[in-house]
Amino acid sequence: MNFNDELKKRVDEVNSLMEETLSIDTGLAEPLMDAMRYSVLAPGKRLRPIFMRESALLFSDSLKDIPELKYFMAAIELIHSYSLVHDDMPCIDNDEYRRGRKTTHAVYGETNALLAGDGLLNFAYETASLGLLNAKHLDRAAKAMAVLSKKAGIFGMVGGQAVDVESEKTGKEINKERLIFIHENKTAALIEASMMIGAILSGATDKDIEVIEEAASKIGIAFQIRDDILDVEGSFEELGKPIGSDEENEKATYVTLFGLEKAKQDVEEYSKRAMDILNSFERKNEFLMELVNSLIARNR
Ligand code: IPE
Ligand code: IPE
Ligand code: MG
Ligand code: MG
Ligand code: MG
Repeated sequence: MNFNDELKKRVDEVNSLMEETLSIDTGLAEPLMDAMRYSVLAPGKRLRPIFMRESALLFSDSLKDIPELKYFMAAIELIHSYSLVHDDMPCIDNDEYRRGRKTTHAVYGETNALLAGDGLLNFAYETASLGLLNAKHLDRAAKAMAVLSKKAGIFGMVGGQAVDVESEKTGKEINKERLIFIHENKTAALIEASMMIGAILSGATDKDIEVIEEAASKIGIAFQIRDDILDVEGSFEELGKPIGSDEENEKATYVTLFGLEKAKQDVEEYSKRAMDILNSFERKNEFLMELVNSLIARNR
C-alpha cells in the first residue's frame, strides 16, 4: 500500500462528495450558499469523514451495503467546517486565514459568516437525515444521529469551545484537567463522533463502539496538542492558517502549560495508545493505522 496515494484517493472522494452535497439551487439565498461553499470547498484535510469511513471498515469488509454512510460523512465535514467559520470570527479567535484562503468573515463579512455557519450546521442535519431516509438499517442510522448531535453540541465541540474561550484573557486558572476537558470536547468530540458513527453504521457491538470512542478520544487529544505545537512552530505556508494566533489571544495551550518537548512526547504517547486500541480489533485496517501515525508529526 502506498499511503500517500491511498490518502489522496480518499481526500478526492470526500471533495467530490462535498461538491455534490452543496450543488443545490437555493434561489434568492444563493449568496449565503456561496459563502457556505466557499468555506467547505476550501482545501481541508477531510480527516473526519475519512476517519468515519475507515472506522466502518474495521467492522465490515465492504461499504456497499451502507448507503447511509456517505450522508454522515458529508454531515460531519459540514459541522466541522461551520465550527471553523465561527472559530475564526473576531468574537472568537479573530483569524484572517484558513485553509490557505481568507477566512469566510474576511471575504463575506461577519453577518454572512455567522449565517453561513448557521446554514452549514442545519444543512448538516438535513444531510444526515437523508441518511436516515435512505438507511438499510434505520436503527443504526438513528443511533448515529444521536451520537452526531450529542458530540457536536454542548456535550462536545460547542461545550469545549465555550470553556476554551472562557479560559482566555480572563486569567482563569488553567490546569491539566481543564485543558484536557477543552481538547477532549472542542476537538476530540467530532473525531469520536466520526469513528463511532462509522462503527455504528457497520454494525459494531456496543462494547466495540465504546472502545472506538476511547481510541478516537486519544487521537483527538493528540491532534489538538499537535495543533497547539504548530501554532508555535508551524509555517503559515504549510498550515494555511496563521501561526501565533494562540499567543495573540493569550490562550493557555498544551504548549504554554507543559512546553514544546513534553507536548511532542504526549502527542506520541496518546497516538500510541490509540494505535494499541485499534490493533486490538480482530480486523486490521492498515491505512487507518498509518493515518494515525502520520498525524503525530504532521505539518498541516
Ligand atoms: C482544525 O481542524 C481545527 C482543529 C480542531 C484543530 P483541521 O486541522 O482538521 O482543519 P482542516 O479541516 O484540515 O482545515
Ligand atoms: C478549534 O481549536 C477547534 C474548533 C472546534 C474549531 P483552534 O482554535 O486551536 O483551531 P485552529 O487552530 O483555529 O484551527
Ligand atoms: Mg479556537
Ligand atoms: Mg482558532
Ligand atoms: Mg489552533
